[in-house]
Amino acid sequence: MGTSAIRRILVTGSEGQIGSELTGELRRRYGSENVVASDLRIADHGDGPFEQVDVTDRSRFEEIVRRYEIDTIVHMAAILSAKGERNPTLAWDVNVTGLLNALELARELELTQVLCPSSIAVFGAGCPTENTPQETVLKPSTMYGITKVTGELLCDYYVSRYGVDARGLRYPGIISSETLPGGGTTDYAVEIYYKAIENGRYTCFVSEGTRLPMMYMPDCIKGTIDLMQADFDGLVHHGDFNLGSMSFSAGELAASITKRVPGFEVTYEPDYRQAIADSWPSSIDDTAAREEWNWSPSFGLDAMTEDMLARLRKRHAEGNLYRGQPA
Ligand code: NAD
Ligand code: SER
Repeated sequence: MGTSAIRRILVTGSEGQIGSELTGELRRRYGSENVVASDLRIADHGDGPFEQVDVTDRSRFEEIVRRYEIDTIVHMAAILSAKGERNPTLAWDVNVTGLLNALELARELELTQVLCPSSIAVFGAGCPTENTPQETVLKPSTMYGITKVTGELLCDYYVSRYGVDARGLRYPGIISSETLPGGGTTDYAVEIYYKAIENGRYTCFVSEGTRLPMMYMPDCIKGTIDLMQADFDGLVHHGDFNLGSMSFSAGELAASITKRVPGFEVTYEPDYRQAIADSWPSSIDDTAAREEWNWSPSFGLDAMTEDMLARLRKRHAEGNLYRGQPA
């Protein structure tokens, strides 16, 4: 199978932390009219088409794919780890049934590609936590992680059984300034920046020494689009690429901010999310992504902190820190 041209894209979960920024970049590259945003939540997309789609509703999903003559589904709709632990059956429905619907549409309508992110949450007990390899034991402790392992296996199954071009990457925790995260364990690494700017204090829900793999949004967008555009014939892996960038502890993150926000105070009050964080790797080996599609991240911790603080300070000065989102 070669790589067919991507012409018309449907982004599911387009109002989420990643979908919102990815939709903007895809529209810049492919044309606004060629990138249909969709989410369970209704949104106003003055710059291009938006449709309300529940990905668990197969007939509505199909109606939109057919109506817009979609050839590529970028599947961002999901329930993340912390929210998933509060409602495990919802996490299964959205993350597994939603992806299965996308893959079935790709098979039946012979779409060009489905891309669905996986996560460091696929890892758990028994795998090495430092430089965690691409191939290792996958025994996640959360329903979110179970759905992500299932999603990777489904993508690989549709590749080998039906010849569907399905791809996925195991994102680390994603840090960004435009849309707040949607209920994950790594949300603290975003919230801390907002609170540093808002009131100079933050109570962190994981311990100071908790060290996880993280990535700044520009690298996340670049990696996602680079994988979408990679030649299918050059891929050995498909649904499960480890994706590394940087790793730091909550204390190191706080120190990077304090250097630039003098007097910033962080206290640590671990809650139920500590156990989830403790089950995940500290750092990731992403050799397969580097070798198969030339993955290479740009941002380190201090460069990310500079950029995050500059963007949030500007919005705060304009009285628009949260852009109308609930804090
Ligand atoms: P998010 O929670 O911010 O956004 C998910 C979006 O999906 C929301 O806008 C929500 O309204 C929508 N949604 C929920 N149920 C839906 C349904 N039934 N039908 C349609 N839409 C629905 O998530 P995100 O951070 O943007 O994550 C995007 C993808 O990246 C997910 O697959 C997630 O597992 C993965 N991921 C994210 C991170 C991260 O740190 N953000 C890390 C690893 C993997
Ligand atoms: N950032 C995500 C979460 O915490 C990881 O997949 O759920």
